[in-house]
Amino acid sequence: MRALVLSGGAGSRLRPITHTQAKQLIPIAGTPILFHALQAVADAGIREVGVVVGRGPAAEEVREAVGDGARWGVEVTYIEQPEPLGIAHAVLTAEPFVRGGPFLLYLGDNVLVEGVTRFVEGFERSRPDAQILLTRVPEPQHFGVAVVEGERVVRLVEKPTTFVSDIALVGVYLFDGSILEACRSLTPSWRGEYEITEAIQWLIDRGYTVRAEMVSGWWKDTGRPEDLLEANRVLLATRRRRIEGEVDDASVLEGDVVVAPGAKVIASRLVGPVFVGADTLIERCTIGPDVSIEPGCQIVGSSIRDAIVLHGCRVVDVDGLTASILGRGVEVVRSGSNAGVRLIVGDHSRVEVE
Ligand code: DAU
Repeated sequence: MRALVLSGGAGSRLRPITHTQAKQLIPIAGTPILFHALQAVADAGIREVGVVVGRGPAAEEVREAVGDGARWGVEVTYIEQPEPLGIAHAVLTAEPFVRGGPFLLYLGDNVLVEGVTRFVEGFERSRPDAQILLTRVPEPQHFGVAVVEGERVVRLVEKPTTFVSDIALVGVYLFDGSILEACRSLTPSWRGEYEITEAIQWLIDRGYTVRAEMVSGWWKDTGRPEDLLEANRVLLATRRRRIEGEVDDASVLEGDVVVAPGAKVIASRLVGPVFVGADTLIERCTIGPDVSIEPGCQIVGSSIRDAIVLHGCRVVDVDGLTASILGRGVEVVRSGSNAGVRLIVGDHSRVEVE
């Protein structure tokens, strides 16, 4: 069995972070989202992985970060999707790679704490034509939803405007070759995309068996900033204490704190779960819980909780930073003057002041 991991798309709901970075490479709990997907695929015993990328710098960054896949013991083939015309379009673009056997389709911005091994085993046991992974959600209008009878899927609707079901499609699917014919039959949806959900409905309408499997552990589609923060909290909670950097005697570490090699913690209090990336300096701070700070940051005289701070940020004398995501190289500093709040922020940024 092969796997197709989607890492294209526009990432418009995560701007401005995605102006300069593929959304699937945003790190949470110290690891890019896409790496969690590749690990899940490798853990399920799949060795040949197609990674669908778009065009431009974000795609290049994915190729550079993932490389040949050796880090996960898999062999990666890159497939370029010229335009993000939908998930079914991505599948057809990858047809030469997926043709000739069953394949796992994994949307690269989804995080599944328990991976996909059980899902793959379920498919191999029952050998349906297609299998989809499902979970109940409070806001079904943001997802594709399914109506099920026992293990059988009887109807699917993408982003329903009126209530159909609160059981959503998680972005993980298993298909045999029939899905390719289904994808070829599609016309663009109201949002201008070739929808995989409609391709699966095409299979149902023609009597193919589509099997449902419910997610057993925690799952998140990291499409929006609040989803990233939630994923960060959940994945941080799975990490255990590991101190490889320097922590001075004046600092206090509580709970599961990870301090990566080359990081320095001086006169600070870290309340786990907290991840401090390599070569980051934390001085006179209170950090945590639920904070990931990527490599190369300087955080001085500040307090931060529930946040993701990307590579190379500087935060100085800022008290109470919370529920926040800072993109790469961002500076947040107290000016010390009474001239009001001064902002130099990029396109589509969001700043909330007291
Ligand atoms: O996350 C679950 C949901 O994912 C499902 O409930 C929906 O049925 C399914 O359509 C999908 O909805 P989204 O609107 O969240 O899909 P999104 O546009 O975010 O794309 C999902 C992933 O696929 C993302 O990693 C980007 C990638 N992608 C997307 C498109 C449209 C591509 O690689 N190429 C594309 O053309």
